[in-house]
Amino acid sequence: MPVSSFELKRILRPNILALEPYRCARDDYSEGILLDANENSYGAAYRAEIAEASDGGAAPRISAGADEMSLHRYPDPLGREVKRRILELRPGVPSIDNVFLGVGSDEVIDLVVRITCRPGVDKILITPPTYGMYKVVASVNDVGVVKVPLVVDGGSFQLDTEAVVEAAVADPAIKVIWLCSPGNPTGTRLREEDVRRVLDSPFAGLVVVDEAYVDFLRPERGGSCAALVTEYPGLVVMQTMSKSFGLAGIRLGVGIASRELVYYLNNTKAPYNVSTLSLRVAREALSDAGLQKMRQVTRCLAAQRDEYLIPELKRLPHVGAILGGNDANFVLCRFVDGAGSPSNEIAKGLYTEMAENRGLVVRFRGLDHGCEGCLRITVGTAAENATVVATLRSLLSAIA
Ligand SMILES: Cc1ncc(COP(=O)(O)O)c(C=O)c1O
Repeated sequence: MPVSSFELKRILRPNILALEPYRCARDDYSEGILLDANENSYGAAYRAEIAEASDGGAAPRISAGADEMSLHRYPDPLGREVKRRILELRPGVPSIDNVFLGVGSDEVIDLVVRITCRPGVDKILITPPTYGMYKVVASVNDVGVVKVPLVVDGGSFQLDTEAVVEAAVADPAIKVIWLCSPGNPTGTRLREEDVRRVLDSPFAGLVVVDEAYVDFLRPERGGSCAALVTEYPGLVVMQTMSKSFGLAGIRLGVGIASRELVYYLNNTKAPYNVSTLSLRVAREALSDAGLQKMRQVTRCLAAQRDEYLIPELKRLPHVGAILGGNDANFVLCRFVDGAGSPSNEIAKGLYTEMAENRGLVVRFRGLDHGCEGCLRITVGTAAENATVVATLRSLLSAIA
């Protein structure tokens, strides 16, 4: 929705608008003798140097052990240094005040629903096949789900744009539209003009574009739409350190949006949601050297995908097609029966046999809209990809 007609206050829950946020100690001061947050002044206990008093009666003498991360202190509640680095990564995002950090993008998903949707009253709109957590978060928060499926013909996996707009505009209870680009499990980047069409429509709620896989896009296929948050105050762009940066274990997700929306997300989150350890690793990963390596790794994974995995899979018997745009670090492989029809029986059989007897785990997606007969296979290392291909070849050759 264009700047002129979007009003954030109309779509936030009244309790969130009225919320007086918790003020944490580190919001005020972070230097000097810090006796304001009930931290442990002796440092991390497990690293303390402890000398028992020689007379046995007095308390032991304790000095803090080496701890360059000051783990006994609460972290920066806003992760400001990491946000500064994110601005380097996503040019066009004006300020760290436009960036929210969550415990994985899964926390961002939950917070977006919690600040906008009243339980038992409001709804979200999703476009299946899509990432499963949107629906799960809606259920947890007792929020309804309206589905407008992607156009799946020929594995295109693009928005049914007019149907999305029509459904969203027709039902004022819909507060958030979730778009996933590149999509999971589709691996397909949505057309930018379609995303803009939704943003330009009279829909008065938030439009979230989940870009978890954006760094795997070939440059000629486009890039992030994070910079559009300056144009569209109803837009939230989600990203994550879990995929291209290879840091799923630190649980760091990013929401890029208007300053006003980020303000409310910050008010709602737990005060110190992202740990010192996660912030420390993220800062390193987002350094100039870290970014350069991330780009090398994503190029290497894309090459494995395009030059080895896809062509080799296509050569196998019973592989009907590799669906979607292949814009992510996985492929959606459709298996067909002897008559050329998509076969969940074959896909499920392969999935189970590989997981239970071959130590090779992929994901069965055959029940998702437009994904009949499909396995979603993450691009592995060169050796792992060779194993997937060889295992599938041997199993498929045995099928009549
Ligand atoms: C589209 C999409 N969004 C979000 C996530 C979750 O990311 P995070 O690890 O940051 O919670 C995933 C994880 O698979 C995903 O596929």
